[in-house]
Amino acid sequence: MKLKTALALGAGFGALCTYADAFSAEVYSGYTLLRQETKDMQDDDFMNPGMGALARGAAMFTTPNAKGVSCASCHGADGKKLSAKRIAQYPVLDAKSKRPITLQQRVINESSERLGISTLKYESDDALSLEAFVRNIARGQEVNVQTDGAMTPFYEAGKKLYETRSGQLNMACSLCHDNHPGEKLRAQVLSQGQTNGFPLYRLATGKLTGTQTRFNQCFDAFRAKPYPFGSEEYTLLELYANAHGNGLKIETPAVRF
Ligand code: HEC
Ligand code: HEC
Repeated sequence: MKLKTALALGAGFGALCTYADAFSAEVYSGYTLLRQETKDMQDDDFMNPGMGALARGAAMFTTPNAKGVSCASCHGADGKKLSAKRIAQYPVLDAKSKRPITLQQRVINESSERLGISTLKYESDDALSLEAFVRNIARGQEVNVQTDGAMTPFYEAGKKLYETRSGQLNMACSLCHDNHPGEKLRAQVLSQGQTNGFPLYRLATGKLTGTQTRFNQCFDAFRAKPYPFGSEEYTLLELYANAHGNGLKIETPAVRF
């Protein structure tokens, strides 16, 4: 069934479609669906419009606080003392809380706990720039999110959220991104909703866009109420969405329509 018909049918959608197993299909990056000129833009650091935000993140990384300490004091000016392999594992289980923590939340916590700067707001331009700088250190690494062991209940909870219908159109993430990738929806071709390029630059909005802002944009698109940035729900959803892309190469900062 075509997605447009499905959307028109609204609530009857799920009953009419067979559920594709979310993980049986081979994973691919949204990059593969881009027009050649957008691919070229992403691949060339001089043309990639996400690089401006990255430079801003790099500046934040090396700017000292009142005591002369910066992120770079501990992690090196280019951040290369941070492990790229480890960055590719986020969200990870936080040692203290024993709950998953996103990379952006970690960066925000580092800023407040180690530098005493508590002004970074989740999904703000600053937090995104700093997160983009850190995730870019892992560009080319394979996404490798833990889904077993102590992570299992969180992963399952994220999957449930991904498959939960809500809003006026009674849609769920999985209905578009698992059941209809490759199909056209208005001007866009649906991808698998992978997160391996985030934070990424959206040409449509002209902004560096975080994973959770993209979630908001999708919730808006199917007229459902989004969750707050940095909430437990969004952490679980990001955990599931990132794990969905295990094995894909990190592209941060990717370029998308
Ligand atoms: C005083 C030294 C210090 C400063 C300043 C500092 N960090 Fe860290 N950071 C650490 C240490 C030590 C760890 C590892 C701690 C642990 O294992 O939990 C860490 C962990 C991290 C991690 C997680 C890596 C992992 O293993 O999961 C990230 C990302 C990070 N820091 C980014 C930053 C950023 C961004 C800043 C600036 C806002 C910053 N750090 C400031 C010492 C520092
Ligand atoms: C009505 C269909 C629809 C639903 C439902 C939907 N999305 Fe999307 N989503 C889109 C479209 C269209 C795009 C832009 C094209 C693309 O990359 O698929 C998109 C893009 C994305 C992207 C960016 C992919 C990339 O490579 O840049 C992510 C991540 C995403 N969606 C996650 C979600 C999540 C999580 C949910 C559930 C909260 C959701 N989507 C629900 C239609 C949908």
